[in-house]
Amino acid sequence: MKKQKLSIVGMGKMGEAVAQGLMQSDLGKHFVIAGTTRTEESAQEVRDHLKIECTTDNSDAFKFSDIILLAVKPHQVEKILRANQEFIRKDQLIISICAAISTEQLSTWSGGKAAIIRTMPNTPCLIKSGVTAICAGPHAEKSHMKLAESIFGELGLVTTLEESLFDGVTGLSGCGPAYMYLIIEALSEAGVKVGISRRQATVLAAQTMLGAAKMVLDREEHPAALKDEVTTPAGCTIDGLMALEEGKLRVTLIKAVLAATKRSKLMRA
Ligand SMILES: NC(=O)c1ccc[n+]([C@@H]2O[C@H](COP(=O)([O-])OP(=O)(O)OC[C@H]3O[C@@H](n4cnc5c(N)ncnc54)[C@H](OP(=O)(O)O)[C@@H]3O)[C@@H](O)[C@H]2O)c1
Repeated sequence: MKKQKLSIVGMGKMGEAVAQGLMQSDLGKHFVIAGTTRTEESAQEVRDHLKIECTTDNSDAFKFSDIILLAVKPHQVEKILRANQEFIRKDQLIISICAAISTEQLSTWSGGKAAIIRTMPNTPCLIKSGVTAICAGPHAEKSHMKLAESIFGELGLVTTLEESLFDGVTGLSGCGPAYMYLIIEALSEAGVKVGISRRQATVLAAQTMLGAAKMVLDREEHPAALKDEVTTPAGCTIDGLMALEEGKLRVTLIKAVLAATKRSKLMRA
């Protein structure tokens, strides 16, 4: 079977994560992966690091690729697509990972011919533990969606969602790793306060978060039921939970997601 050419326009953190995840997987054998960057310096770094073709010429990527993965900053997308509109064909698939850019905008800016898919991954994709929301845009068929699902499936979990929910996804799982790091950092500080070394406290906090997350996903139980399992009557956990309720942890986290969702909406306006 002929390999498909997949060009990643924007080989930054996320672009590299996708390239690396694919290259380390069986699926990667079906693609010739290449990338572009803005500066020659970054292109050279990618060539050295990943041993793939990487240039600063986006037009080649649009002319010669079957799949184009857009991984530049959101404000750069319109300019890049409009500049390369003349090269974009009906038989191509454009997958975007860019926050706030709608499938309608992607389709309009790219000339309306190519199939469009929008995704929202997160940084744990770097270690194949990410989660990616995905939705179909203009001309995207089931086969395109299957392909995108298998690409991001190599980097973690994938879930299909309506596009109207994508700002919320950005606020929740796109930005979410930062909230989790903050919680781990705070728990680790607490460990230091009770006399544990910082390194051990960080391991205890991070592995606790990882384990709790795995319990939620593996057992498919409501988090509240799992919380109740840990909470013995008149035990220690209920005192800890009371302190969290006093500090309004729940409503604070909800507000964090709402604030980031609002920002994602504003980025498009
Ligand atoms: N970071 C996250 O947590 C996250 C999560 C989900 C989605 N996203 C989305 O992923 C996208 C990329 O984010 P990132 O964090 O990976 O950004 P990043 O690390 O800053 O990378 C941006 C890349 O785009 C390149 N670039 C800039 N202008 C270009 C152009 N005209 N042509 C080709 N390449 C160009 C840059 O090259 P130079 O190095 O040469 O400037 C760099 O390689 C964003 O749209 C963001 O919304 C990010």
